[in-house]
Amino acid sequence: MQENINKPKQRVPLGPFDLEEQEMRELGYKAIDILVDRWVSLRDKDVWAGGSRSEMEEMFRESPPEERSSAMAVMTESVDKVLTRAARIDHPRFFAFVPSSPTWPSVIADALATGFNIFQGTWLESAASSQVELVVLDWFREWVGMPESAGGILTSGGSAANLNALFLARSDIHRLDQAVVYLSDQGHSSLERAARMVGFQGSNIRVIPTTKDYRIDLQLLNGAIERDQSNGLQPLVICGNGGGTNTGVVDPLIDLAKICKRENLWLHVDASYGGFSVLTEEGKSDLRGIHLADSVTLDPHKWLFQPYEVGCLLVKNLNLLESAFRVTPEYLQDVELGLEHVNFCDRGLQLTRSARAFKIWVSVKTFGMKLFRRAIQNSLDLVKEAETYIRQSNSLELMTPANLGIVCYRVNPIGYELNMEELEKLNRDISDDITESGYAMISSTRLRGEFALRLCVMNHTARREDVLGVLEATEKTAQKLLL
Ligand SMILES: Cc1ncc(COP(=O)(O)O)c(C=O)c1O
Repeated sequence: MQENINKPKQRVPLGPFDLEEQEMRELGYKAIDILVDRWVSLRDKDVWAGGSRSEMEEMFRESPPEERSSAMAVMTESVDKVLTRAARIDHPRFFAFVPSSPTWPSVIADALATGFNIFQGTWLESAASSQVELVVLDWFREWVGMPESAGGILTSGGSAANLNALFLARSDIHRLDQAVVYLSDQGHSSLERAARMVGFQGSNIRVIPTTKDYRIDLQLLNGAIERDQSNGLQPLVICGNGGGTNTGVVDPLIDLAKICKRENLWLHVDASYGGFSVLTEEGKSDLRGIHLADSVTLDPHKWLFQPYEVGCLLVKNLNLLESAFRVTPEYLQDVELGLEHVNFCDRGLQLTRSARAFKIWVSVKTFGMKLFRRAIQNSLDLVKEAETYIRQSNSLELMTPANLGIVCYRVNPIGYELNMEELEKLNRDISDDITESGYAMISSTRLRGEFALRLCVMNHTARREDVLGVLEATEKTAQKLLL
């Protein structure tokens, strides 16, 4: 009896996939070391490390093995081969598309929530983290200024939130073949996709042109609504931009709200891109009127510095959201604990959902709102500096001024008199050259059909020298290519 006292207790494995406790710890510590090493050396790494399909096929095509291997060997090799061969979206000089740079506590919180395997479809299975989602949604509601009757749900991203919003807007429409949705020509592609998915006829999706400054043209919008009404159609929903992806420009939301009120239409504001800038005075002013919307999309994995995936839909009338999505099958009768116990599966498409609010909660509680505000303001300021640099350059031409973290420009050196095709080729080559160099990544777009380079500063990791360094690199690359 005495002999057994100091003997380590034998652990009964949890199941066939269980590892030894020590091995589990070592694997976890190793994962953290890999991530921290990546984090602290991010600035010195290439921004882009992709590859062609044929290279990837050669590296990865294989049949799944029958036998087991060392977890440590598989993990380290896989990290090396798979996770490092990608664009580094959180790199200080990633200015392409829409950057994203999570905070470290939010990354760890996400990993922990995964490890706890929280099922956040029902209250019964996730009481505390469902409550945390309610609180986080309330923070967002207050930041945006929506009324207390509003509420929402965290989604996988902005596209999913836009889809839910359009489903909601059309949920009690009987003649969908007559219903019309109005988008701006600067609206995100996910809106048109969502409109099609929820059943709007292609011919009833109106893409309204924008004015010179890329805001939806109110006169054309009013004209389109009038025409549709007189043709016996039913104007149903207007989608406004709370920061367009191309240029960062915000639509005149107060005017859109007035039109919607007058015509009894649903106003959806897609603020996936710019929404969290309401945390700054500048962003709040740009997005004035957002609180008047019937629904708003936000995307915390963009300007709230959260790891993928987390988007958000806020709806002015929460009851509508629940009545549109709620289905109560027999096998879920045990989860009906009364209306105050929210089952998030009643507010959207997903039954099985991860605990997305947890990472937001942890990172906001860690850093406090002052720091979040400052990080967003920093992006706004850096892009204004970029605009000033572009305006003063002899070889760069400003195409759209700084708007919510985006500036568009092109290389168009004085004295070269390049035509449109030559300009496009030169700028495309410059963008490719910069990406291939590994130093930075910018992307391109088209503005009124003309090729433009687009610099989007959203990462909390970016500094002044990164932004100006990329513009200098653009000028130098142009000189090299024009020689
Ligand atoms: C304005 C806007 N709406 C919607 C989306 C889609 O969001 P997600 O990629 O999170 O689905 C984006 C993404 O960049 C966006 O900028």
